[in-house]
Amino acid sequence: MNVQTIMVIGAGQMGSGIAQVAAQAGFRVFLNDVQQAFVERGLATITKNLSRNVEKGKLSEAEKEAILGRLTLSTDLADASEADFVVEAVTENMAVKTQIFSKLDEVCPPHTVLASNTSSLPITEIAAVTKRPEKVIGMHFMNPVPVMKLVEIIRGLQTSDEVYQLTEDLSKQMSKVPVSVNDFPGFVSNRVLMPMLNEAIYCVYEGVATPEAIDEVMKLGMNHPMGPLQLADFIGLDTCLYIMEVLHEGFGDSKYRPCPLLRKYVKAGWLGKKSGRGFYVYS
Ligand code: CAA
Repeated sequence: MNVQTIMVIGAGQMGSGIAQVAAQAGFRVFLNDVQQAFVERGLATITKNLSRNVEKGKLSEAEKEAILGRLTLSTDLADASEADFVVEAVTENMAVKTQIFSKLDEVCPPHTVLASNTSSLPITEIAAVTKRPEKVIGMHFMNPVPVMKLVEIIRGLQTSDEVYQLTEDLSKQMSKVPVSVNDFPGFVSNRVLMPMLNEAIYCVYEGVATPEAIDEVMKLGMNHPMGPLQLADFIGLDTCLYIMEVLHEGFGDSKYRPCPLLRKYVKAGWLGKKSGRGFYVYS
């Protein structure tokens, strides 16, 4: 199948990043969300990123305009009828995702592949609400999408080899490196990353050290680009808690229990960078 048009659903941090790299790769892209203000904010982020690349001399003004020209804003899921490939990047909530996938299954032509950028929810369960489970796949990008090379590609139980191959090729066209994993809670990235972030939060909770000290240990001692608490704030503490709960419930193993301090912060609305406060305060 020759993919020409991609729809990205969800114009937040991840969705706008995915739309940017898809448009940069030459695809026609619909960026969809439930409100015009959300898609406009997504477009503003993309425009800012591209302008920065023009300033750095990595992109010409004409190339920037061509990339923006390939983007169309949408607030109607029915626009997916024009898409060959859809990437859903909405909030991590199974009910919301399954509602979107069953609607997509109705409006998209039979050849359209439906991918989810979920960071931990089972692809097999999302696929089960459609009549095309062989065309449903996980395509997990990392934040910030324009910078991070990895795309974790998750095969649901019924995902076909053709759809896997197509998704792998598409990732490469977007200048990403695809890595194949099977459908288990947290896949690989978050099964390994989140318990480390959760353990760093336990170190704060138990008074082992301050957030600054913990981050210094991991940055200077392990060469991590960001300390675990800075990274948790960057990802969003609500997202971290949600993923820990998926791991805890999915494996039934107490080693994945979320730290009570993480729960407390989320309850207080301290969600990290996006809310202005997490383990650090952001102006
Ligand atoms: N959007 C676009 N570009 C960005 C960006 C953003 N949000 N943030 C930084 N960049 C670009 C900068 O413009 C810069 O580009 P050039 O090299 O062209 O100049 C480059 O990235 C490096 O940025 P900085 O010099 O400002 O800062 P840095 O060297 O500290 O890098 C970082 C910033 C890439 C975010 C780095 O700190 C890093 O790699 N952090 C870890 C990120 C990470 O672990 N991501 C995975 C999170 S987990 C996830 O996403 C999965 C999940 O399911 C939760």
